[in-house]
Amino acid sequence: MRDGLLDEFVERVRAESDLLTVVSSYVSMKRKGNRYWGCCPFHHENTPSFSVVPDQGFFYCFGCHAGGNVFKFISLIENVSYFEAVKIQAEKLNIPMPQRKKSEVEIIKDQKIADLQKIHEMAGDFFYNCLMKTSYGIPAKEYLFSRGIHEDIISEFRLGYAPDAWDKLSMAFLKRGIKQEFLVESGLAAQRRNSQGAYDRFRNRVMIPIADERGHVVGFGGRVLGEGQPKYLNSPETVIFNKRRLLFGLDRSHQAIRQAGYAIVVEGYMDAISVYSAGVRNVVASLGTAFTSEQCKKLLRYAPEIYFSYDSDEAGQNATLRALSVVRETGAIVKVLVVPDGKDPDEFIRRHGVDAFRALVKAALPLMEYRMQYVLKHVEHSSLEGKVKALNALLPVLAELRNAVEIHAYVVRIAQVLGIDEGAVRSEMRRFSQHGSSAGEPMRASIRQVVRQKDDAVRRAGRIIIKAAWQDTDVLMHLKSVVPIEQFPNKLHVEILRFLEKQEMCGVLPDDITAAEELSEEAASELSRALVEDSDGQEVTEAYEDSVTSLRKVYLQKLFDEHSQKADELSRGGDSGYKQELAESQRIKDEMDAL
Ligand code: GTP
Ligand code: MN
Repeated sequence: MRDGLLDEFVERVRAESDLLTVVSSYVSMKRKGNRYWGCCPFHHENTPSFSVVPDQGFFYCFGCHAGGNVFKFISLIENVSYFEAVKIQAEKLNIPMPQRKKSEVEIIKDQKIADLQKIHEMAGDFFYNCLMKTSYGIPAKEYLFSRGIHEDIISEFRLGYAPDAWDKLSMAFLKRGIKQEFLVESGLAAQRRNSQGAYDRFRNRVMIPIADERGHVVGFGGRVLGEGQPKYLNSPETVIFNKRRLLFGLDRSHQAIRQAGYAIVVEGYMDAISVYSAGVRNVVASLGTAFTSEQCKKLLRYAPEIYFSYDSDEAGQNATLRALSVVRETGAIVKVLVVPDGKDPDEFIRRHGVDAFRALVKAALPLMEYRMQYVLKHVEHSSLEGKVKALNALLPVLAELRNAVEIHAYVVRIAQVLGIDEGAVRSEMRRFSQHGSSAGEPMRASIRQVVRQKDDAVRRAGRIIIKAAWQDTDVLMHLKSVVPIEQFPNKLHVEILRFLEKQEMCGVLPDDITAAEELSEEAASELSRALVEDSDGQEVTEAYEDSVTSLRKVYLQKLFDEHSQKADELSRGGDSGYKQELAESQRIKDEMDAL
């Protein structure tokens, strides 16, 4: 479904955007003739193969084959979707987004979100009241008290209790007119397997409300009182409860995160509650799953630094390393807060007090330091093999460092502890930076590989034809009479020419926005190449003539082969029809010779 207002908006942003200006704000570009060259921001290189032809509005990299229009460029470099890129550019140019009327589907979705928020808010009250105002709540209260969680914290986090019964919540909510299907859909109840009716999902658990950034309760984590499995039961995913996006506690902590300049990320709800209640307020917890890049980007909106404080057991260490690899791509500055002797932050604070915890925060290790300590402790590094393994484990982090003094200091230390030559560490580091990774440029998840594409004269000819047809779709008429589009040997060219043909039939000029929408990624890149590439100094029309001729030859050769083969088959079978085939192939041969 297309939206006219939105199309108009995109076109206006496109019309007011200057590709070269946008590109130049990221890459230093030098002019050569009618085009500009720079070092490609999408792969590592020292000699420029990234080119922009301002009149065409396309960029193309001859090394990694990234190509497209201004929005494609922004989407790659900022690592956002195509439409996000349009919005970024609109904001820069001060072009307002059109306010469009919501579709039926969107209205229904908005209503569903509102209903889900409402039922979760009600459930939050229900659980809170069970804990605080009824006798059912007594054992839960005792459990919380035993963990050092008293009334002030309970009311701050609106902790609650789900009674030890099958349908207390369901009954109460059905009475209030909530439909059973909706109870099930919200995840607060589950459908009975063998009969009608539903039962409460959460029973005999301490309930921890999980809110979105704006403080709307969107789900719950329920903990058993004491021992039992599963220890935590969480709400299922719904439209409003997305574990990959949410961070427990962010609704309360975002201001403190902004002020502190960093966020502390812990593993458990109880850790976050403990740390926050002890007065360290810039804390969030990931929701029992691995830390995601969505969560990372969310935190980066408030502060550039993230301190991970995962459990110091083996699982926690591994979780930390996994989180670090997610974070690395985003350019966040990372430190690791090491809690000693296998404790989690909650237990640590209860045992040693908040001042000791603040000291741990202060002593948080820079990523490189943490990685060194970890590798030296876990990788046997006395044998030659071990040294290589240890060095390889250190290189990815080492290669990210920017500060020369810091790099030097680590190189010296690594050389020392591993008992190898400093020069060897340096050269391995260089080798890794060149081949291993992008060396951590911010938000560039899309660093590309240099790909050697198969290219030959015929494929180049195809691109010249495409360029000519792009500039003047009348060319297609002539082209089709000489070489049918389906007969182009390159499948991407067929795709692009079909697209141009369609535009021509609709009576519209092809443009980069429609091309980006309708072409596959590979075809769009090939089109960009066609438009950015120089036709060896020839005029486009002249180059077109030559190119059509060479593609016609390829086409004729194929026809010739087909007819000759047919003639061969027929004559072997004693069929006199072979003469006709032979005559046809001769005609084709004559034309080829004349070309
Ligand atoms: P406490 O024992 O209450 O102190 O829990 P904790 O905060 O120390 O939690 P733990 O380190 O065991 O787990 C960290 C997080 O993983 C929890 O906050 C949950 O989000 C999640 N988690 C732990 N156990 C389970 C489980 O059995 N099921 C699910 N779905 N999640 C769990
Ligand atoms: Mn714990």
